[in-house]
Amino acid sequence: MEYGKLIEKAIEARKFSYSPYSHFCVGAALLCSDGRVYTGCNIENRAYGPTNCAERTAIFKAVSEGEREFDAIAIVGGEEELVWCYPCGVCRQVMAEFCDGGRFKIICGKSPDEYRVYTLNELLPEMF
Ligand code: THU
Repeated sequence: MEYGKLIEKAIEARKFSYSPYSHFCVGAALLCSDGRVYTGCNIENRAYGPTNCAERTAIFKAVSEGEREFDAIAIVGGEEELVWCYPCGVCRQVMAEFCDGGRFKIICGKSPDEYRVYTLNELLPEMF
């Protein structure tokens, strides 16, 4: 799947963001090796700690449906306008559990045609 199309799906998922505390809305679209796409948004909580990031929502949805092999994840975020949005350390570690660091691509998008692509190894070097 083209990265632009994956970003479009992340932008759609971002519409469901539940972020009344930070007002920072994030969407993610996870591309599985079998071609399926699972989306996610961030879901905040009044106690803050239980907040779940968009990336983990997408990954946990996929794993809970039996998926284990992933090629890429697109991430978009911002309060109103999209800004460059990178995955937090916890999400990077969750990606490391399931993804090949040299192969898995993290696509940070500002629009379907403006994005930056990294491998997980680049964003989480010397991972545990
Ligand atoms: N957030 C994500 O969902 N993904 C990221 O990559 C960065 C941060 C969420 C968590 C919280 O709901 C809000 O953005 C502000 O930190």
